[in-house]
Amino acid sequence: MGRRIGMRSTAALALAGALLAVLAGIGGARAAEPTGAPTLREIMRHLHHDLSDVHRGLMYEDYSLIARAARSIAEHPPIRVPERRLIEQRLGEETAAFAGLDEEVHDRSLAIAGAARAERLDEIVRHSRSLVDSCVACHQAFRERLRGISGARR
Ligand code: HEC
Repeated sequence: MGRRIGMRSTAALALAGALLAVLAGIGGARAAEPTGAPTLREIMRHLHHDLSDVHRGLMYEDYSLIARAARSIAEHPPIRVPERRLIEQRLGEETAAFAGLDEEVHDRSLAIAGAARAERLDEIVRHSRSLVDSCVACHQAFRERLRGISGARR
């Protein structure tokens, strides 16, 4: 009996560890962040700039612009530790859903980059629609609760 409980708490710990690993992985890097790392809001403004470049590239059929912009979305800098903590505090268990949407953005922008390399306009359109869905899904679900977490550097 005691052993079973022991096993269970080990499993629970492993699960908590995995969740933390996912959180630490928001945006990718795990190393200590450089000073001057962008705030969440700055990351978002960059994402928007890159998304506009994807759309510009679509209209001008500039595949290398699309591939570059899409890769830049996929490789956006990680969310800074203090903001990550605030996200966890405010979203609790929903933090996993937040991280999941960030992961979606990552995967969909890589799909755009792949389609751009293959010069497949129709696929670029399809993937960029689903990319926009992921951006907006996160905003609708979480933006209101996370407003202001970027703090003084706004
Ligand atoms: C995992 C959640 C999440 C995803 C995915 C996400 N955003 Fe955001 N975004 C936010 C949050 C939270 C804010 C509010 C930040 C604030 O007000 O400080 C925001 C705000 C913004 C803003 C407004 C910035 C400002 O100056 O007020 C823009 C623009 C933006 N996001 C663009 C994008 C684009 C483009 C994508 C997809 C490529 C995207 N976001 C994907 C969470 C997300």
